[in-house]
Amino acid sequence: MEKTFLMVKPDGVQRNVIGEIVSRFERKGFQLAGAKLMSIPTELAEQHYGEHKERPFFGELVDFITSGPVFAMVWQGENVISTARQMMGATNPKDAAPGTIRGDFGLTVGKNIIHGSDSPESAVREIGLFFKEEELVEYNKNI
Ligand code: CMP
Repeated sequence: MEKTFLMVKPDGVQRNVIGEIVSRFERKGFQLAGAKLMSIPTELAEQHYGEHKERPFFGELVDFITSGPVFAMVWQGENVISTARQMMGATNPKDAAPGTIRGDFGLTVGKNIIHGSDSPESAVREIGLFFKEEELVEYNKNI
């Protein structure tokens, strides 16, 4: 079953929208396979955002994502990677459509509430960075 890595960023945790965000993915029909509230060590943040290392905003990005607790999650279901990205909305909340998570709750590109894997390769990499295999659950297929 396809899996993706989603993370409510420190601004989303502080704004108390973890429940709202979890609820949207539950109502859509996806299954939560793992979740934890955690503080991200700097080294993990640098690994997670490694592809942005040369960008001028890299330092800001790492500082922000390590500035407070995040809610890291693994969700699963058909086409969950691309559907979750649609539900999140455009990276910059100013371009995100109303009804999407960033469109409804975010204002600026730095503090855009949620992160989601952008491809199957990223999903595998990011899930592996944040979760051990035994932290993910399996659902009974007969239910
Ligand atoms: P995310 O999906 O977590 O992946 C990379 C992040 O970089 C992105 O969300 C934005 O929050 C952040 N980002 C992108 N562009 C900028 C920018 N110009 N300034 C600050 N942060 C940015």
